[in-house]
Amino acid sequence: MTDPRLADLARRAPETRLLTEPSDLEHYGRDWTRRWTPAPLAIALPSTAGDVQAIVRWAREHQVAIVPSGGRTGLSGGAVAAHGELVVAFDRMNQVLGFDPVDATLTVGPGIALEAVQNAAREHGLAYPVDFAARGSCSIGGNIATNAGGIRVIRYGLTRQWVAGLKFVTGTGELLELNRGLVKNASGYDLRHLVIGSEGTLGMVVEATLWLAPPPPPTHVMLLAVPAMDALMRVFAVARVKLQLEAFEFFTDRALEHVLAHGAQAPFDVLSPYYVVAEFDAGDEASQAAALDMFEACLEAGWVTDGVISSSDAQAASLWRLREGITESLARYKPYKNDISVRIGAVPAFMADMHGLLAREYPTFDVVWFGHIGDGNLHINVLKPDELDQESFVAQCEVVTKHLAAMLHKHGGSISAEHGIGLVKKPYLEGTRSHEEIALMRGIKAVLDPDGIMNPGKVL
Ligand code: MLT
Ligand code: ZN
Repeated sequence: MTDPRLADLARRAPETRLLTEPSDLEHYGRDWTRRWTPAPLAIALPSTAGDVQAIVRWAREHQVAIVPSGGRTGLSGGAVAAHGELVVAFDRMNQVLGFDPVDATLTVGPGIALEAVQNAAREHGLAYPVDFAARGSCSIGGNIATNAGGIRVIRYGLTRQWVAGLKFVTGTGELLELNRGLVKNASGYDLRHLVIGSEGTLGMVVEATLWLAPPPPPTHVMLLAVPAMDALMRVFAVARVKLQLEAFEFFTDRALEHVLAHGAQAPFDVLSPYYVVAEFDAGDEASQAAALDMFEACLEAGWVTDGVISSSDAQAASLWRLREGITESLARYKPYKNDISVRIGAVPAFMADMHGLLAREYPTFDVVWFGHIGDGNLHINVLKPDELDQESFVAQCEVVTKHLAAMLHKHGGSISAEHGIGLVKKPYLEGTRSHEEIALMRGIKAVLDPDGIMNPGKVL
């Protein structure tokens, strides 16, 4: 270890594994954005909270920035290390540490994958209901850092709702135990909720206690072809009353075409402008009949032109693949991603405005819409034309995002619903948060991270 700073770190945190091979620096220095060239100083793989505290104290002394790192599946550049930072990766802190059957909580290390948490909950006859396509590779620490949402928010809420307690190392190296699994706790500010969604800018989660839900009831999945956006919102209004919804997602014909080109099976003979994937409770005949009635009523009203309801788990999975396969099918085009939200009731008015903006600004680009329409979260992916270089493409998209941020401001929305601000959305934060709020955020950061070593340049 030629860098004397790293030699000092190895002395002070002897159980921490340090990696400096170029392939490791590249692997751990980036997330799914692929816009920045990774250039960290080194990768630290701690195995205990004590290691993490030692790393922070070392970083303060040497004025080295820290980038906390989970599964690096983020889409906003929150885990990018491109300026000589120390990446603190939680691969070795990925165990299930405890299960409490009375509290129905699972305690885990931050590096555990979301899917491993879901499986562990299932083994105890319970469920961890936050869910999305990156479940196999994203980590709970990253989920907490971005307050991850996904496909079941409409029923179960965001990650925030399931965090019962956190052990957290601040930017000063203090170890805090936040909320300790209490259901009721009225003893002052709930710092746990300040940490959730802070994108590694205040410190690092070193242990999480998660509430588990009762096992979900049997469900069916419905795929609907929908002719227009206003029809889609009408279908949603009916579905949320008639069915117990687990998920209500949408995508466009362009999204479907990309997924089909990527190997999925076409659901219907004729292409439709919009599609809905809805999952609903179907544990008894009454709920199955309600779904059929709802489908027939929507068909009669002309809000739906075709549809299918799953009759097996395999069919349900193949219907979900049409929605969950979108991100992967678009990856080769290096899409510029927008992850925005408005109140559910404001979706139609916002969509109408946004349609106009996108048609005007991106007349020739392939713009792919999909997302969590049931909770007001839309993903708008703009695909890079092959002939355009990455830099000009991003520059063009950033101009449009400024207009989009202004439009979100007008409709009371947010520039990031669930992916986080990171590096990608930082220039637009002021569009949807007030100066006063941002000043308070800076003040909070200054208290928890006075040397500015925690994920600098991200969010603020
Ligand atoms: C999704 O909903 O599929 C994810 O947020 C990923 C994405 O936006 O690409
Ligand atoms: Zn999403």
